[in-house]
Amino acid sequence: MNRTMKLVVIALVFTWAGLMMSNEAHLMAQPSQSRTKGEVEQLTLPNYRQWTHVKSMVIFDEKHPLYKSFGGMHHIYVNAKGLKASQAGGPYPDGSTLVFVLYEAENKGGAYVAGKKKVEAIMVKDRRRFAETGGWGFQAFDPQTHQPLIKQADVKSACYNCHASVKDRDYVFSRFVK
Ligand code: HEC
Repeated sequence: MNRTMKLVVIALVFTWAGLMMSNEAHLMAQPSQSRTKGEVEQLTLPNYRQWTHVKSMVIFDEKHPLYKSFGGMHHIYVNAKGLKASQAGGPYPDGSTLVFVLYEAENKGGAYVAGKKKVEAIMVKDRRRFAETGGWGFQAFDPQTHQPLIKQADVKSACYNCHASVKDRDYVFSRFVK
């Protein structure tokens, strides 16, 4: 075997080994992929702008504990399935969905107006699918691409644990403003 051929053989062996390894990694990834099936990665952003407005709020000062993560102007919407429960303060039937949309709050000559959209977050009630998180599926979306941002493995620390402080209101903070 001349030198070039040796190099070719070595390169082929490495490529083959690499393929086998990535194949194996793929096979190993299978169980966790099937475990996450039907979970929060699969939630999509609904067309909520026709829904009922629940309330709005402007978090404008770092004195507020949520200023860092939720500073800005937000509006909350509920779909038709969840409307009665929202007005009553829960409990919500399966199929209920709430949306939290956050904009930058721009001070325009003494008035706060909605600036750039920062995030859209949803809670979808399905007691069977989301039994581990109070019967709610939590997800947040990139405002530009609408891609989901939360992995099932992180949903408790990112969303659920905080919402669990209002478990007696079916995990929903917002009170319907009449
Ligand atoms: C540190 C606490 C905290 C965390 C973490 C948190 N939220 Fe909330 N969330 C709130 C509060 C407080 C409100 C109510 C805001 C208001 O009163 O206007 C709220 C409101 C909401 C609402 C509207 C329904 C409701 O409960 O009022 C949705 C939907 C929502 N959050 C989704 C999410 C998602 C999805 C995540 C994770 C990406 C998340 N939240 C993380 C505190 C939190």
